[in-house]
Amino acid sequence: LWNRFAVSLCSPPSPRMRSALPRTLARRSARALSTAFADAPSAPLRSARVNANHVPDASSPLPFMHKPNEFDSAAISKEHWSGDWSSEDIRAAQSANVVATWGSTKATANLPILERGEGVYLYDKDGKKYLDWTSQAVCTNLGYDVPPAVLEAVTRQLTTLPMVYGGLGMVEVRARFAKLLSEALPGDINGLLFPCGGAEANEAAIRIARRYTGRHKILTQYRSYHGGSTTTLAATGDFRRWFGESAATGMLKMLSPFPTTFQWAAEEEAVAQISLAALEEQIIHEGPHTIAAILMESVIGSR
Ligand SMILES: Cc1ncc(COP(=O)(O)O)c(C=O)c1O
Repeated sequence: LWNRFAVSLCSPPSPRMRSALPRTLARRSARALSTAFADAPSAPLRSARVNANHVPDASSPLPFMHKPNEFDSAAISKEHWSGDWSSEDIRAAQSANVVATWGSTKATANLPILERGEGVYLYDKDGKKYLDWTSQAVCTNLGYDVPPAVLEAVTRQLTTLPMVYGGLGMVEVRARFAKLLSEALPGDINGLLFPCGGAEANEAAIRIARRYTGRHKILTQYRSYHGGSTTTLAATGDFRRWFGESAATGMLKMLSPFPTTFQWAAEEEAVAQISLAALEEQIIHEGPHTIAAILMESVIGSR
């Protein structure tokens, strides 16, 4: 009887089984049924029996081994070894092979080809100068002149040991940086993770908040961006969320103090008071005991 149940979970029942199973069940009393289960083998053996229906064919190679090595070195063009590409070469390669994020690739066709930076200025391949009002995505904190000490430290590390996997060894520069940050950060913030970017950092923050509080919900603003991974896209409030929200749960949204289509009030003080009252109202209805964290950008770049 157990085998029949197990098989019926894995595959559609055959017509014979379909008629046999109800008859079998009808024949046995509840007592007989429980005896049948009590006699069933323990869990690992049960699954072994189920899997016994699948016998791998050792003579046939795995699917990925079917393909011959299709790398054709003749397909690699000679221009990869040429020092300088013209603006046309760069635009052609970009439009043929680079996929834009968060918008149509075509719409990026006329972006400037940036060549160098100096202070707060960027220069394109034709020498045109741009003032970078936004530090790109609010992230070029040092401007475009890398201080000699940073340049020297990066070069020293690259020439002595370019890669250390954190789980396999310690390295002085990481230990020193962690100690320095823990001393500079407020309060007792002294445990530091070193993720690769913003999305990974926010993923970790969300996981930590959920583990620490034992709660699930994360509250973020509609006007926000928190990263391009599944969880952080769901935490994101703007249109980019639509590409990831169905795969993550527990993500709530609140209106910003500065919504897109209306004002909470004319004066900033009143805006703060009303939007805080709206947030409190939302938290009360959601249940404060269900919210693990509120995640907010200090400088909002989303519409
Ligand atoms: C506020 C904010 N959070 C998270 C991210 C995601 O960072 P990253 O692109 O390094 O994953 C960004 C990136 O623009 C951001 O602006």
